[in-house]
Amino acid sequence: MARKIVLTSGKGGVGKTSILASLGICLANKGKNVLMIDGDVGLNNLDVVMGMESRVIYDMADVIENKCHINQALLQEDASSLYLLPSAHAYDNQKITAQAFKEMVGRVENLFDYILIDCPAGIDAGFHRAVSCADEAIVVTTPHVSAIRDADKVLALLRSYKLNSINLVINRVRGDFVARGKMMSASEIARILRAPLIGAVPEDDAITVYSQLGRIGLNRSSSRDSIDMIAMNIINNSFRIYDVERAYRGFFGRIRRLVSGL
Ligand SMILES: Nc1ncnc2c1ncn2[C@@H]1O[C@H](COP(=O)(O)OP(=O)(O)O)[C@@H](O)[C@H]1O
Ligand SMILES: [Mg+2]
Repeated sequence: MARKIVLTSGKGGVGKTSILASLGICLANKGKNVLMIDGDVGLNNLDVVMGMESRVIYDMADVIENKCHINQALLQEDASSLYLLPSAHAYDNQKITAQAFKEMVGRVENLFDYILIDCPAGIDAGFHRAVSCADEAIVVTTPHVSAIRDADKVLALLRSYKLNSINLVINRVRGDFVARGKMMSASEIARILRAPLIGAVPEDDAITVYSQLGRIGLNRSSSRDSIDMIAMNIINNSFRIYDVERAYRGFFGRIRRLVSGL
């Protein structure tokens, strides 16, 4: 039976979809059968960052309305063990109930090792729908105060659900800023939020560029390495964290910090 993990944040635009897509690729590269579900009904993003949007024939709404079998809606990434269930774009968000969503996930949970669920921003019905069918949650935040505040609210809400674990990923960390004391480190943020830190992902232009090209996570980069560590942590139930500041320590690090000028 699959481990069902929801990625959520409260605030939008913090990197949930980007991290989920890369995490799916990393887990599949380690031989795991992975299904990524785009729970952001009405706004399809995951198929776009994965470069799969032109292949969508059936989506989640077709599955729920019994217009197709769920297997017909699953898109496979390049003959790998990674699959995507696309969201229903241009569809009324309210029409997919938490119960229907859970039943749909139940139909395929025996086929996969991991089911990653992309949660919409906010804490309304879409949040409840995505969280209530998961057994683990990962809260994604950036080091910015508004995102941290929303993560705090979401963590409080998640604690009222029956989840086996609630872990934290800090995204878009600037190693040079942290080294100079201009940005809180991932572990400091985790301490404030009183949640176990399962990953720190550096600010990385590769995410912006490759998500636009629909080739997220397919290229080696610092963010890809950090997300690979999150995949290992998920598999092993460990908490090794990517060292975002490493490049900015020591002699060469001092030069890099001087060149960045901040
Ligand atoms: N670590 C990162 N470094 C640079 N840009 C990032 C990073 N993570 C996400 N982004 C960018 O931030 C934007 C929002 O990311 P997205 O994954 O869509 O967030 P969400 O799903 O939480 O709304 C996208 O343009 C994405 O490319
Ligand atoms: Mg998103």
